[in-house]
Amino acid sequence: MRVLFVCLGNICRSPTAEGVFRAHLEQAGLASRVEVDSCGIGPWHVGKAPDARAREAAMQRGIDLSDLRARQLAVEDFERFDYVLAMDHDNLAAIEAHRPASSEAVVALFLAFAGWPERAVPDPYFGDEDGFEAVLDLVEAASRGLLVDIASRLEASP
Ligand code: 4NP
Repeated sequence: MRVLFVCLGNICRSPTAEGVFRAHLEQAGLASRVEVDSCGIGPWHVGKAPDARAREAAMQRGIDLSDLRARQLAVEDFERFDYVLAMDHDNLAAIEAHRPASSEAVVALFLAFAGWPERAVPDPYFGDEDGFEAVLDLVEAASRGLLVDIASRLEASP
């Protein structure tokens, strides 16, 4: 099973989701069965590590994002990943616009997995540290729901 988190720059929200969800998989003993990655819609930060504020906030919760590097969404991602999960409605629209008709990936807003079908993870880039805490809280909630969803799919096809 493969999961791709998508935001605009791939330096704040989607690397946070990647790190948090990977930690949840490890705690559940499923890390070897699920591949996790993240990417951005825009090209501006390709090759860069996550924003220092995102790294700091995640580290305070025991999650190290320092090895991650930004990349851009590619058409191959739609064949490779089973889930392509957007942080906000603009990301979702961009994903849908790039998605080939042949793709069978589940494309959705990430927070749908927390039971909030229309809610977005707000972009923290131009805000203060509180925005990064809010991102972590939302991402933690959605990661728990996504873990349940994926665990049930893995049980159905062991
Ligand atoms: P992200 O945040 O999409 O959560 O990584 C942003 C990072 C950079 C920019 C916008 C959002 N930017 O405009 O450079």
